[in-house]
Amino acid sequence: MDNNAQQKILVLDFGSQYSQLIARRIRECKVYSQVVPCCTPAEKLAAEKPAGIILSGGPASVYAEGAPQVDPAVFDLGVPVLGICYGMQMLIHTLGGKVAPGPAREFGRADMTVTAEDDPLFSGIPREFPVWMSHGDKVVAYPAGTRVLARTANTENAAVAIEGRQLYGIQFHPEVVHTKYGAEIIRNFCLGICKCSGSWTMESFIESSLRSIRKTVGGDQVILGLSGGVDSSVAAALIHRAIGSQLHCIFVDNGLLRKDEAAGVKKLFGDNFNMNLVTVDAADRFLEELRGIDEPERKRKIIGREFIAVFADAARSIPGAKFLAQGTTYPDVIESVPINGNPSAVIKSHHNVGGLPPDLKFKLLEPLSRLFKDEVREVGRQLGLPENVVMRQPFPGPGLGVRHLGPVKKETLDILREADAIMVEEIKNAGLYYKMWQAFAIFLPVRTVGVMGDLRTYEHVIALRAVESMDGMTADWVNLPHDLLQRISGRIINEVRGVNRVVYDVTSKPPGTIEWE
Ligand code: XMP
Repeated sequence: MDNNAQQKILVLDFGSQYSQLIARRIRECKVYSQVVPCCTPAEKLAAEKPAGIILSGGPASVYAEGAPQVDPAVFDLGVPVLGICYGMQMLIHTLGGKVAPGPAREFGRADMTVTAEDDPLFSGIPREFPVWMSHGDKVVAYPAGTRVLARTANTENAAVAIEGRQLYGIQFHPEVVHTKYGAEIIRNFCLGICKCSGSWTMESFIESSLRSIRKTVGGDQVILGLSGGVDSSVAAALIHRAIGSQLHCIFVDNGLLRKDEAAGVKKLFGDNFNMNLVTVDAADRFLEELRGIDEPERKRKIIGREFIAVFADAARSIPGAKFLAQGTTYPDVIESVPINGNPSAVIKSHHNVGGLPPDLKFKLLEPLSRLFKDEVREVGRQLGLPENVVMRQPFPGPGLGVRHLGPVKKETLDILREADAIMVEEIKNAGLYYKMWQAFAIFLPVRTVGVMGDLRTYEHVIALRAVESMDGMTADWVNLPHDLLQRISGRIINEVRGVNRVVYDVTSKPPGTIEWE
């Protein structure tokens, strides 16, 4: 946790799939928020000087053996607390009330009536509106001092407050969009009840980051592996603004990049931003190591291994570098609570350039590690990065290596690059590119018979893939307009030599993965 002076609200995570969403909703009120494991001792929470605490929902039952528990001292910190769903039941249970299985589980929409006239949690909100419920247990006995604030047909205590203590519980989920005034309720809690000023903005984040990067780095040199993706690009722009020529970016061209990608990175970061940029053209080396390899996992391992070797050599060429900067973001480092099992925290570790040789010992500099992706994009915009960089779609580390099936070769990679560029251009022209998670082409290592200009052809196949996704974990294929598919297919066949057939992938994830390898 960051023990700094800025106002913040802590979200105690009881294993809800919505904990990060709660944190984002708080930030939408311009209040800094952090997700912490539910079992964090009250003393440690108090050291953070939170302006308020929110207890998340969770899949367990508060009365079940081994259910994740809150430190009861949390309710005596003198800090406002809002319990959501399981969090509300935890509050009631811990303060001496009773939670039991409800006669019926309640999932989905419910119409709520606010019965309390004057409570700040519902200030400025209509008295009747739809909320989103997801619970099986219910509160059956209250601790002393409980006041019911709202009810639905099934839940007579949809919202409660403990009089005089600024402790609130709500059975519904304000963080999901289906709760009509959910954002306003979270705002009322953060600004009205916790008295936060709502001044945490990306401008203020950039200001404080610049100070902190300068303080951390001092007069030392920093290296950063620049991929051209959103996270490393924004990290580079931020660190460059802070320390200028003390930042050294390393860009590895592994020969598996998309059309014009390497040139674009050199132009933007080298020429426009005037950064120290070491570009390593390692295409031949990668292609040589990959020669004849068609097994996807072997390809991935070779590409990963070679990247580290090339990056390490480039890093050694920058004498005295003490820091390795990475574009790690908040979802990469958030401490998560396992859904079933021990509620002690498990920390996901994620290092983009892991496994460097032992002679390269760097301190990590990860200035974006407290930001969600949309916040990273906003920081990038404010630092002057163009929209096509801050809104770039994800691109896998092994690049076209996992989109070119079978052994990769320069000639067929070029075919894939051309086809992919057409796909992306047409999707952009249709105004769809920034609305979908990914759109790209895949090279298939088979040939099919066709007829072009009365002549028989025997050439390669390109597959097109476009998916919608929230986080890459699951995905739906996009129902692209047929005339758009027709245009892409026509252009690829006409403009890319060596292709006589184009197919569209209509597989979701699961059962397919997004990438083909
Ligand atoms: P899959 O293919 O597993 O991909 O459904 C899920 C998301 O992750 C991206 N991806 C990668 N990203 N290194 C990365 O940085 C990788 O090795 C890698 N493999 C897949 C993929 O593009 C999709 O967005």
